[in-house]
Amino acid sequence: MEEEINVGFPQERLRRLRLNPALRGLVQETRLSVSHLIYPLFVVPGRGVKDEIASMPGCYHLSVDQAVVEGEAVAVLGIPGVLLFGIPPSKDPLATQAYHPQGIVQEAIRTLKKEIPQLLVITDVCLCEYTSHGHCGVLVDGEVDNDKSLELIAQAALSHAQAGADMVAPSAMMDGQVAAIRRLLDERGLVSLPIMSYAAKYASAFYGPFREAAESAPQQGDRRGYQMDPPNVREALREIALDIEEGADIVMVKPALAYLDVIARARQAFHHPLAAYNVSGEYAMLKAAVERGWLEERAIMEVLTAIKRAGADIIITYHAKEVASLLGR
Ligand code: PBG
Repeated sequence: MEEEINVGFPQERLRRLRLNPALRGLVQETRLSVSHLIYPLFVVPGRGVKDEIASMPGCYHLSVDQAVVEGEAVAVLGIPGVLLFGIPPSKDPLATQAYHPQGIVQEAIRTLKKEIPQLLVITDVCLCEYTSHGHCGVLVDGEVDNDKSLELIAQAALSHAQAGADMVAPSAMMDGQVAAIRRLLDERGLVSLPIMSYAAKYASAFYGPFREAAESAPQQGDRRGYQMDPPNVREALREIALDIEEGADIVMVKPALAYLDVIARARQAFHHPLAAYNVSGEYAMLKAAVERGWLEERAIMEVLTAIKRAGADIIITYHAKEVASLLGR
């Protein structure tokens, strides 16, 4: 009889499949793989520069030559790509260095692609590291002007593409930025260059260490006028839907940890490849606790596995190198 079959314990014993590592491996539902990781790099002017970022132990400001050394280490570990951020020698209100053909990121792209051609070079496309005021777009009467920013953002993406980037990743949270970039790239014949859009990017306190690293904190005000309000999830789905309509090839949720529900909802609602950005503050938090012995190192794997389990295909993480080593053990 049905009821007798469905009595559960003692017939059902879920521990049977936890008996040993081989059995546990057989039924493992989520698996982290190096091939899905992207490692961010911060490139600075100069030569021979490798300065550790205080709030991000193990991450460095690297001059282009040192970025190549780091890129080689990344490639050897099997990590398929890096995400480049540039800290320019000078800043101005129009972020001129963001789209300068000889800019720091453009230089880094050319050198990395020449020295390590198999390593994917993805570029963050934003103005905040390059504007003197630190906002992600152009200011008009003290406000970030959406439509005036689009042209410069598209120019920055084009300059990265022309320098040889494999993919561009717009992160300014301006409406229409994906469409503006796609249009300009296509006009210039760069129809095959993919766009990974920071589609649902929240105005988060977890970017703190990054802003120190990228020297990109806004001088006045904050980013709440363009980045998303943390309590909202339906709005994130609208952001993602719009970016897909505009031509995004990969969509991203950022940050990751406090937004696992957003990742899970996005996974269900869309079929595009989904990236999650395990941001600087999430990294700093865990690193600090592991360094003090308050948490075991495997907490890092647990956290990244959770991001995967929530539904992310791709994880952008400062932990990429250590995770690759841990997976290789
Ligand atoms: C640029 C950008 C930021 C991050 C990625 N791209 C900072 C910001 O929006 O203030 C954050 C990355 C991190 O914290 O690891 N707009």
